Amino acid sequence: MRRKLSLLIIAAFILALAVSSCSKKDLSLSSVFDEPLTFDLNDANLKSFKERLGTDDGYAFTVFYGGDTHGTLENCGCPNHPMGGLAWRVSYQKAFRQQSNKEAPMLFVDAGNLFTDDRYEAGKFPPEVLLKNRWVVKAYGDFLTDAANLSYVDLPYAAELFKKDGFEARVKELPFINKLISANVQPQSEALTSPVPYVIREVELKRGAAGKRLRIGIVGFTSLKPGEGDKLENAFAGFQIEDPQAAAKRVIPELQQKCDVIIALAHMSHGQAQRLASQNPEIHTVIAAQQVNGTEEARHFGSATLVFATNQTKSLGELRYYVKADGTIEKQVNRFVGLDKAMPEDPKALAMVNAAREEFTAEQKKNAAPVALQTVSSAGFVGSQKCADCHAEAYAVWAKSKHAHAMLALENKSQQFDNECVKCHVVGFEKGGFQSMNTTPQLANVQCEACHGPGNEHIKKPAKGFGKMVTPTACIDCHTQPNSPDFEFTTYWEMIKH
Ligand code: HEC
Ligand code: HEC
Ligand code: HEC
Ligand code: HEC
Repeated sequence: MRRKLSLLIIAAFILALAVSSCSKKDLSLSSVFDEPLTFDLNDANLKSFKERLGTDDGYAFTVFYGGDTHGTLENCGCPNHPMGGLAWRVSYQKAFRQQSNKEAPMLFVDAGNLFTDDRYEAGKFPPEVLLKNRWVVKAYGDFLTDAANLSYVDLPYAAELFKKDGFEARVKELPFINKLISANVQPQSEALTSPVPYVIREVELKRGAAGKRLRIGIVGFTSLKPGEGDKLENAFAGFQIEDPQAAAKRVIPELQQKCDVIIALAHMSHGQAQRLASQNPEIHTVIAAQQVNGTEEARHFGSATLVFATNQTKSLGELRYYVKADGTIEKQVNRFVGLDKAMPEDPKALAMVNAAREEFTAEQKKNAAPVALQTVSSAGFVGSQKCADCHAEAYAVWAKSKHAHAMLALENKSQQFDNECVKCHVVGFEKGGFQSMNTTPQLANVQCEACHGPGNEHIKKPAKGFGKMVTPTACIDCHTQPNSPDFEFTTYWEMIKH
């Protein structure tokens, strides 16, 4: 047993040496993805995971893609079916690499909206949001991502990363910054440096055209930022956004001189992405994103394939490329792989997700100003306890409902400080009610006033006509499709009727 173990260690060591010596040449996903798996693919419990991997049918290389993850490494947290997140994605990619016997190079690209622009105001982010985005830069760098497209949503945070002041040192620490690409975003402010328009990855093929070195060019485009009314804005957060179709006409011919395969990342509408694919025949693949829920069939325009990433990368996009003997692309096959508990979470990636969450929560706690607790918020929210005196029956029904304990669900996941979550699990968030667990804990949970509105006036002068609620519209503000897929007004109201 011990002997077997030491042999294994030696084998792993040799493998590590082999990998490090060739990693300079082969720039596709390597290192972390070449480590031995921490789970056994033949484990019967992983049956559906094995099915999801599909069979190895001779593809020459693979491009995985995602998009619209909006600043998080976590899965979607959807109550019925959590999907997405770094830990399942990495786990799938590792297993995929093992299956193809490491013969098929793999790339991973992000189609845009990688960072959150939440609470960005007057050119500034709160510190915890900066921290959240920074973790994304670190994680995508560590779990090798070949390129990420800068969409207009990403620009406020990109303005932090592309500050001329301290740029070199920042890149040294976070080399992934150099993989943030855009062919139609230019700094408008003197203080910013420009992102590169594209990156070129060179991979050595072992199948199809064995021995051939293929240069894969990855270029990025974003639509303009939607403005108020019908107007589109082309200046934002210190950057200028050029019309993406015009930028393509300029950049694609230049890129074609330098590489064999062109992949365009495009954060834009279906119509715009189609135009990009059909008006630029040099492009092989357009990988687009625009918060598309669910998976869409790939479409073909001449020799170009157009695919859309799923919102929050709940399903990982997988494009398999088959190559002819002369090194040209024979066909591309697109699949979506649901990322969920059918697969184990990769331990290293999971450790990073947890570390990011802990630091983010600590930062939020620190920054929630320690003001005196207020029993009446400025907007007149008083809390359910005050209603109990006169509406004992309604109170009793409510106290037994899940609404009364909605914060516990977040505490169990250590996300009670995450505004992406709290907004639906409290009273009056961003309406002058709940601010944070430090300052307004009495307004945590979905209390009476989350539905009936502020009660301060009513408790002073009780009368009929108070707190009429528009149903089911007001329920659906929180019971959205992703967060409450089974919501149906009559059955749900029956459960909390009072
Ligand atoms: C402020 C956001 C919000 C509003 C408005 C809201 N809910 Fe909820 N609701 C929640 C949250 C959050 C939960 C989950 C609480 C938990 O499980 O911890 C929930 C849970 C429920 C449940 C429990 C489901 C179960 O599995 O037991 C029912 C029933 C329900 N809501 C009905 C309604 C109805 C009907 C309305 C409209 C009259 C409504 N809710 C309005 C946030 C809201
Ligand atoms: C748009 C509103 C909304 C947001 C944002 C939201 N939730 Fe919820 N959450 C709900 C509703 C509504 C339910 C009840 C679903 C149901 O029972 O149909 C719920 C239920 C839950 C439950 C299930 C509790 C149980 O009793 O099983 C958990 C856990 C949860 N949410 C965690 C989170 C986390 C973590 C986040 C942030 C990543 C989050 N939620 C963001 C509205 C939301
Ligand atoms: C999830 C949303 C929700 C919550 C939470 C909630 N209510 Fe209601 N409540 C309603 C709806 C919907 C009605 C039906 C009347 C309407 O449409 O306004 C109602 C009706 C009422 C009525 C009128 C009953 C009648 O006979 O006409 C009272 C009183 C009331 N609620 C008090 C409370 C109190 C007190 C609490 C907290 C202990 C509470 N509600 C929590 C949604 C809610
Ligand atoms: C001091 C007693 C008192 C308190 C405290 C009080 N209410 Fe009322 N509430 C009343 C009376 C009285 C009515 C009118 C009932 C009637 O005439 O049928 C009423 C009516 C309502 C109605 C129904 C309005 C309608 O037209 O049917 C809702 C909803 C309601 N209250 C919610 C609340 C909520 C939420 C709170 C806590 C924020 C609260 N009440 C606190 C006494 C009170």
